Amino acid sequence: MIIGSIPENKDLEKRISLVPDIIKKYTNLGLEVNIVKGYGDHLGFNDNTFKNAGAKILLSKEEVIKNSNILIQLDMINENDFSILSKDKILIGSMNYSKNKDKIEKLKSNGVNIFSLELLPRITRAQSMDILSSQANLAGYKAVIEAFAFFEKAIPMMMTAAGTVPAAKVLVVGAGVAGLQAVATAKRMGAVVFATDVRMASKEQVESLGGKFLTVEGSENLETEGGYAKEASEEFKKKQEELLSETLKKIDIVICTALIPGKKAPIILKEGMIENMQSGSVIYDLAAIQGGNTAYTKVDEIIDKNGVKIMGEKNILNKLPVSSSNLYAKNLFNFVSNLYDKDNKKININLEDEIIKNTLLK
Ligand code: NAI
Repeated sequence: MIIGSIPENKDLEKRISLVPDIIKKYTNLGLEVNIVKGYGDHLGFNDNTFKNAGAKILLSKEEVIKNSNILIQLDMINENDFSILSKDKILIGSMNYSKNKDKIEKLKSNGVNIFSLELLPRITRAQSMDILSSQANLAGYKAVIEAFAFFEKAIPMMMTAAGTVPAAKVLVVGAGVAGLQAVATAKRMGAVVFATDVRMASKEQVESLGGKFLTVEGSENLETEGGYAKEASEEFKKKQEELLSETLKKIDIVICTALIPGKKAPIILKEGMIENMQSGSVIYDLAAIQGGNTAYTKVDEIIDKNGVKIMGEKNILNKLPVSSSNLYAKNLFNFVSNLYDKDNKKININLEDEIIKNTLLK
C-alpha cells in the first residue's frame, strides 16, 4: 500500500498533508510514502529531510497520483488530474461538499472513495483526527496576534514612573475551540478578557481560562445534542444586541468566531454598534469566509469605520502554515491508521465504524 500527497494550489493554501515527522509513523504502519519533488520546500521541509525520514521523492504529481493507493490532501485536487485517480483509489482531505459537489460526484462515479474530514463526528475517539479543532485552535491564537499587531496601544497593564498604561479590553464573540484559544492567548498577554456564547456550557470554560463570561439575560441554552450552536431567536438576538452594544463602548479589541454549522455566520456586530466603539479599536473576524459576524467584514480587506479597523481573511492558517501542517498531518495519520487494517495490509472501509461512515462521501 502506498500513500502519497501532491502540492496544493499555493496561492490559496500553504499547508501540506505530510510532514517529515509523520513519514516514519506511516512506514511503521506498513505503508510506503510518495511525494513530489519540492513538496515541502516553501515551509523549509526539503526533499532530503523527507527522504531521510523514509519517503520516496517522485518527479511529477502525475506519478504520485498514479502510484498511490491513498492520496491525502487539504483541498480538492485539480480536475485535470481526475483521469489518473483511478477506480478504488482513496482521496482524503477537507473536501467541502457544497463547494466541490460536481467534482466530488465526478470522482465518485469514477469509483474513487472520498473521505472528507470536516464531517468527523465530535466523539472522544475522533478527537485525535479532528481537523476542525486542531486548525480552529491555531486560528484563534493567530487572530489575537493579528489584532494585537494592529492595535496602537500596549496590551498589558504597565505601572511605570511616567504613568500607568491600562490593560487592553478584549471581547471574544463565540467561545468554541477558536474562541477559547483566543481567550487564553489574550489573557496570557495581559488583556482583560470578556467572552460570550449562546451555549451555556462555554461559560465555565471561559471562566476557567480567566475570562469574564457575558450572559445574555433570560437566555435559553442554544446548544444542539451534538454540542453545536442553534440559530438564536429574534428575542435572543435583541437581548444580545443590547448587552453587547453597551459592552462594546469600552472594548478595545473584538475577536469574532461565532458560527452555526451549515448556515451563514450570524451578524452580531451591527453598524450602529461598531459606530459607537472607540476610535482605534480593532475587530478580527474569524467568521469572515462564512459571511462574517460584523456588518462591515470583507474577506482579505481592512475596513476602517470611524477609526475602528475590521479585518478577516480567507485563510489565516496560511500565516501559520508550519504549525497547522504539523497538526493536520497528525490528524490525517490518526484517521488513516483507523482505516488501515495492519494485519491484512489493506484498507478496510468498515461502515459500522461511525468515524468511517460519517466521513465517507456516499
Ligand atoms: P463553531 O466553530 O461551530 O462555532 C464557534 C462558536 O460560536 C460556538 O461556541 C457557538 O456556540 C458560537 N456561536 C454561534 N452563534 C452564536 C451567536 N449568535 N452568539 C454567540 N456565539 C455564537 O464551534 P466549535 O469550535 O466547532 O465547537 C462547537 C462544539 O463542539 C463545542 O461544544 C465544542 O466543545 C465541541 N467540540 C467537541 C469535540 C469533540 O468532542 N471531539 C471537538 C471540538 C469541539
